[in-house]
Order: sequence, then structure tokens, then C-alpha cells
Amino acid sequence: MTTKIIMDTDPGIDDAAALTMAINNPSLDLKLITTVAGNVTVDKTTANALKIVHFFGKDIPVAAGAEQPLIKPFEDAARIHGESGMPGYDFGTDYGKPIDKSAVEALRDAIMAEDEVVLVPTGSYTNIALLFSEYPEVKSHIKQIVAMGGSFSGGNMTSAAEFNVFTDPDAAKIMYNAGVPIVTVGLDVTLKALLTADTIEKLGKLNKTGEMLHGLITHYNDGSDAGRPMHDVNTIFYLLHPEAFTTKDMWVDVQTDGPAIGATVGDVRAAYHDGKTNAKVCLDIDADAFNKWFLEEVSKIK
Ligand code: BDR
Ligand code: CA
Repeated sequence: MTTKIIMDTDPGIDDAAALTMAINNPSLDLKLITTVAGNVTVDKTTANALKIVHFFGKDIPVAAGAEQPLIKPFEDAARIHGESGMPGYDFGTDYGKPIDKSAVEALRDAIMAEDEVVLVPTGSYTNIALLFSEYPEVKSHIKQIVAMGGSFSGGNMTSAAEFNVFTDPDAAKIMYNAGVPIVTVGLDVTLKALLTADTIEKLGKLNKTGEMLHGLITHYNDGSDAGRPMHDVNTIFYLLHPEAFTTKDMWVDVQTDGPAIGATVGDVRAAYHDGKTNAKVCLDIDADAFNKWFLEEVSKIK
């Protein structure tokens, strides 16, 4: 049985790798890709999503989304992902166009067309917050949200905040309080499951997809030569191999102002919300299994 998914993304090198895995795994049926400003501006994240879809010769619709966060001024991460957001591989100039619908309209239509769909955001959650505000009826059609973002062990923007949540904390707060089950795939796991130098070297020799990903990853300014985090890919690994993760159910909320803006805060003792939870938080991961799976997945492509 296949799982129907929708990815909301800001490619971005690790987003590109996550799209690669989602597009090519036969257990996943990727219905729609929506884009958001994040790692680079939304015109670039949209072009980059289209480049990946075109690289694999697929006909998956891409809809362009929010140009900026709900309230907070936009800050990109080009220092990590390069000015284009996807340097290191020449995708050419012929990669098509986004569909003639906004991300929010496309999300609404795609979600309402299914009884059950999994939403996989790997950028900031602006499109999702707008969607839930404008079309709350979609919520009952979403089985779960498997979201890269947040941290319960220190941030990568400030000591408290992870990039996707920091980029649009107001949207993150809306998403966490929407009443839809969320799996939080944050830095607690993504910084443990580093792609090792050995994995990256082997990747480049596998096939055309491996060459493409190797080109991108060797232009990625996150991590170090000892290992590079593939944050967003952990969402797809979770969907396919939840047994590789240690999780804890808790109530999660988001700080939207002050020095800890963008921090995700978990009610770790279930003390403040009458024992209710809104998220399954990934706290540990089998990093060796992630590296092994990553290479195996790519070796099956082309
Ligand atoms: C997140 O920030 C982005 O730079 C990555 O693509 C990932 O989604 C990690 O904090
Ligand atoms: Ca991302």
C-alpha cells in the first residue's frame, strides 16, 4: 500500500535530497509539491523544486507559495545553501513552470481530493498556517504532519531556535495548535544522523542521481567534512522506517517573540496540558541505519 504525501519545501540542498527520496520510493505517492521562502527566496525554491522533478522526468505539480513569513522579516540561508539554493550540479534551463495556482489553493484542492494524506513540510510553515486559517476543513483529511523543524536540545540559529521554526515562528505556532497530529523531526535527530564522508564519497560513484546529490552535498555549508546533516531527508526516513527513531509524545508550543523567538518548547513531564499531547517528538535515531538506507535508496534510482 502506498502512502499519499504532499511536500511543502524550500530547496535547499537537503530539501532536494528529501524530494529525491520521496519522488523515487514506490511506497510513497507524492501528489503535490508546494514551495516557500526559506533557504533562498521563493522564486528560487520553486525553480529548484521544478529542477528536481524534471531531473527525474516526473509529472508532479509544483505550486509556488509564500514569499515571506507571516510577521517576522524574511532572512535566507544562502550562506549554507549557496545563492541559488542548489549549487554544484547543472540542471539546465528547461525545467518547466509552476502550476497556475497558489500553494494554498493547490494544497486545499489536493488535500480535499484525498480521504487521507500525509503533509511533509521541510521549510518554514507559512503556507500551512495560511491554509489552516483559510480552509480549516482540510484538517480532517490530513492523517499526520511529519515536519522537519524545531529542537529540544539547542538550536542552529540561536541557542534556542532551529531555522525552519525561527524563519516563521508565528506560522509554527498556528501549525502546532491546529489539532492535527504532528511528528516533529528536529535537530535532536537530524544532527545525529550525519551523512559520513564515506557515505558521501560512495554516493558520487553510484549512478546519475548519486552524482547529482554528490554535487549538491559537496557544495553544502552545513556540518563539517566529518559529516553533513541531511535534515529534511529524516522526514522521509521516518515515514518509511519509524522503527529507527525513538520518540516521545508531548505538547509542543512555539515562542514567537523575545530572545528565544523560534524556540520549540515541549511539556516533557506532561505537567501543563492535562496530559494532552499534540506531537510525537523524535529524540533519537539509528544514524548507521540512516546512512545505509540513504545509499541503498539512491542505488535503486538511476
Ligand atoms: C532546516 O533549515 C534548512 O536550512 C534546511 O533545509 C532544513 O529544513 C534545518 O534547520
Ligand atoms: Ca528545508
